Amino acid sequence: MPFYSFINKLKSNMKKLFITSALPYANGALHLGHMLEHTQSDIWARVNRAIGRNVRYLCAEDSHGAPIMLRAEKEGISPEEFVEGTRKEHWKVLQGFNISYDHYHTTHSIENEQMVEQIYSKLKENGHIDTKVVEQLFDPEKGMFLADRFIKGECPKCGAEDQYGDNCEKCAATYNATEVKNPRSTISGATPIIKESLHYFVNLKNFEGMLKDWMDNGALQDQVINKLKEWFEMGLQSWDISRDAPYFGFKIPDTEDKYFYVWLDAPVGYLGCLKYVCEQNNEDINDWIAPDANTQQVHFIGKDILYFHSLFWPAMLHGAELKVPDSVFVHGFVTVNGAKMSKSRGTFINASTYLKYFKPDYLRYYYAAKLSDKITDLDLNLEDFVTKVNSDLVGKLANIASRCAGFIHKKFDATLASELHNPELYQQFVEASDSIKELFIQRQYSKAIKQIMALADTANQYISDMEPWKTAKDENRQEEVHQVCSTGINLFRVLISWLAPVIPDTATKAEDYLIISLSNWDDVKTPLLNHKVNKFKPLITRVEIKSVEEMIEESKEDLKAIEDKPTINGPLKDDPINEEISFDDFAKVDLRIAKIIDAQHVKGADKLLQLTLDLGGLTKNVFAGIKSAYQPDDLIGKNTVMVANLAPRKMRFGMSEGMVLAAGPGGKEIYILEPNDGAIAGMRVK
Ligand code: MSP
Ligand code: ZN
Repeated sequence: MPFYSFINKLKSNMKKLFITSALPYANGALHLGHMLEHTQSDIWARVNRAIGRNVRYLCAEDSHGAPIMLRAEKEGISPEEFVEGTRKEHWKVLQGFNISYDHYHTTHSIENEQMVEQIYSKLKENGHIDTKVVEQLFDPEKGMFLADRFIKGECPKCGAEDQYGDNCEKCAATYNATEVKNPRSTISGATPIIKESLHYFVNLKNFEGMLKDWMDNGALQDQVINKLKEWFEMGLQSWDISRDAPYFGFKIPDTEDKYFYVWLDAPVGYLGCLKYVCEQNNEDINDWIAPDANTQQVHFIGKDILYFHSLFWPAMLHGAELKVPDSVFVHGFVTVNGAKMSKSRGTFINASTYLKYFKPDYLRYYYAAKLSDKITDLDLNLEDFVTKVNSDLVGKLANIASRCAGFIHKKFDATLASELHNPELYQQFVEASDSIKELFIQRQYSKAIKQIMALADTANQYISDMEPWKTAKDENRQEEVHQVCSTGINLFRVLISWLAPVIPDTATKAEDYLIISLSNWDDVKTPLLNHKVNKFKPLITRVEIKSVEEMIEESKEDLKAIEDKPTINGPLKDDPINEEISFDDFAKVDLRIAKIIDAQHVKGADKLLQLTLDLGGLTKNVFAGIKSAYQPDDLIGKNTVMVANLAPRKMRFGMSEGMVLAAGPGGKEIYILEPNDGAIAGMRVK
């Protein structure tokens, strides 16, 4: 270790660092949204390792819960087999992206079970567990109590439709499933009945003071603090931590048929994984998790799971007499081309699909170039992705090395000069090192990348100004050429050293070329002089837009594969068939052919078109939510099918006197029914 690194280490007396990402659910493939989080935390872990901190960077498969149990049942295998299968798949993908977890565990492990029992028994001993008979939704068809995610209905707080039974994606509220308005079982479609059951609760109120202190000292983002304040204002509710059999999880001690709710053992899974690793290394886990442990504990999560990590999790740890997290770092959601990832548009891209077309470094770089320490969403614009990767990584970074390496190899025996041609420029780079490091540590990656790329421009400009390809022809200026190219290679070495946490594959290639390690942040303080290098091979190739298109196409095909299993993943999953109706009920619906004689935009409405429908003499005015898919002019003259006897409904824009029939995933893909030419307006549809 160079002397200054050693001094640095001594000086800062740095704490051990325990870093996690949220544990991916075992019942779905990893997609590019997940990869944002793994990339963000991985860069952070790598930078911290590079500055000499003792890092333990961990993650695991979130293996429990009813969805996984049902999914395994459907596939005819045991839940254990099922989750081990997805764990392996996920781990392979994570490795494919060079995510450097020290270990990737599972929550269905003996270590986790022990941690759960330890925490639970402490919580109980300290008087934080209550039991209560609760009324819970029960699926009379499937014969089981319904896990929250198998209930859908309206959010009791904000009224948003189609929300799961535990929390609301719109307003981030959490609540009990029985509070959901108009519930339905997404397993069978049945309307659930209410049934009693004894449940176990963590009394969150006991922790209010502690949580407020934690919020004040917790190094949380402003947006997170605001959210917490809102939640405190709304009042803390007891947290239901038990579920009835049948359930895949850990049994609650001293019960017959009660299991811990998956969201209890999932965050404990961070510690379960840590315990496993400690045992492998003959370390005492208490050196990491005791309240006075000399460690810094940091969790990277997405904004959707903040409640669990900023209220339940610190409360549980505190109640169990363990160290509370030092920080919870929250990121926003990935959108693709400006919209929520969409299966039908092919922008719901699985991480494994991406890897078939592109190197991991491209996406890692793109995310880094856009990530900040804020909770704002991040748009993966695929055209911008291609442009940015090509211009920054190929056009700027790799270009510096490739412009200089040939001369060093051919003319100077693959050895860098013993002096730099421009040591001041090199010094200017070195002086930026601390501020770039600081930006990475503060998770302001986009700012760090901006600075790095500005310096890459400087380096390229320097080489352009020096024109070594010209001076190389002059026998008397060979030493200058040698020093100029050596300066170029040294500047490249500084840049790639800073970028190594972001683009580790490319960094490895650069290490091979430079015959050095790039793993210590401060090594760049000394230039490489009189130093042998290898023959230069291209570090990174251009990205082609064609590959993006192919990836999108394949992602649409992923969707087709999924749609073959409609009971699990298809449209029926989120929108099950309603309760049966009798033939008499059906006969009441009067379906008629309607001719669209006029169609207009509706001022102030972003979804609606106003249709004037002719039913063979009778005209009806109908507002239809099909604006995203149709231009008014394209509709005029078409026949469609309408429910003619629907009671008129007063809408903000006027009276709607019926409904046209349409289907599709939404957006541009909504299709109105278009009966063939033989249809006559007013004709009954049978
Ligand atoms: N299993 C829970 C976490 C338990 S942690 C003790 C879970 N799993 S998840 O697979 O749904 O999500 C894992 C992480 O990925 C979460 O932090 C989530 O916010 C993040 N993301 C999921 N989709 C995402 C995007 N589209 N964009 C960015 N992050 C996203 O929640
Ligand atoms: Zn809501």
